[in-house]
Amino acid sequence: MSEQVPEQPQQAPEPTTVEPEPTQPPQPRAGNGDGVILDLDDIHTYYGSIHALKGVSIQVREGEIVTLIGANGAGKSTTLRSINGLNRPREGTITFKGKNITGAAPHKIVAMGLAQSPEGRKLFPRMSVLENLQMGAFQRTDRAGIREDLERVYSLFPRLNERKAQKAGTLSGGEQQMVAMGRALMARPQLLMLDEPSMGLAPIFVEKIFEIVVEINQQGTPILLVEQNALMALDVANRGYVMETGHIALTDDAKVLAKNEQVRKAYLGEE
Ligand SMILES: Nc1ncnc2c1ncn2[C@@H]1O[C@H](COP(=O)(O)OP(=O)(O)OP(=O)(O)O)[C@@H](O)[C@H]1O
Ligand SMILES: [Mg+2]
Repeated sequence: MSEQVPEQPQQAPEPTTVEPEPTQPPQPRAGNGDGVILDLDDIHTYYGSIHALKGVSIQVREGEIVTLIGANGAGKSTTLRSINGLNRPREGTITFKGKNITGAAPHKIVAMGLAQSPEGRKLFPRMSVLENLQMGAFQRTDRAGIREDLERVYSLFPRLNERKAQKAGTLSGGEQQMVAMGRALMARPQLLMLDEPSMGLAPIFVEKIFEIVVEINQQGTPILLVEQNALMALDVANRGYVMETGHIALTDDAKVLAKNEQVRKAYLGEE
């Protein structure tokens, strides 16, 4: 790990507003030896006048699975969209691998090593499984590496190898989720973000997807996992954040959160 935080301005189309903090010395927050790979500091994001994220701070460290749980409309997807450049935060700073990526263009963020499997999968339905997977590597030129990663995806999801010529739109929901995750892996990410990978899947597929999340993590990729299935997400995660209406209500080790009475009542369906 690098010991220093280069406070380089991002090469985004428009310069990010830098908030001067005259009373405090600069505080390196990420990449300073504590293994933080992604650091959201007090993020505020809007849809027009709707204040969707009201000061969200989240960290993901090397090696971790971090889960973000919360009810419908809490702001989980908006948090991921703020990170991946699709929805530029109005305030706050996002640091990835020690670089300020706040408001950078989505393709630049992917090129830096941050890839996502989005909510609802967003596949190209008329393209084959293989073509969808190749789209994930569209910014890469290292053919040998791409071939290696395709093999890795096929070994994680043998079903996709069997179905590689099939149009993605004709796959089952679970298979489509595998393609979405495989496509994100084809970017060879250093951090993988997953938005509700278990949504709409039969229990057997849900278990399979969570097993693969763990396997991807064990192969060395930190994961930020958004889930409504709080029980399973907390079971595989190291740490968790509970979101409520645009802010982080609770954060702790996943095992502690899973025992928290408030969490159990609200998200695990207990009386
Ligand atoms: N395109 C949009 N335009 C206006 N408001 C939006 C838009 N997308 C999301 N919102 C609002 O922002 C808030 C956060 O939505 P978000 O999609 O981030 O929630 P979520 O936690 O991912 O919910 P879910 O579990 O249902 O996916 C909600 O109040 C939602 O209505
Ligand atoms: Mg969502």
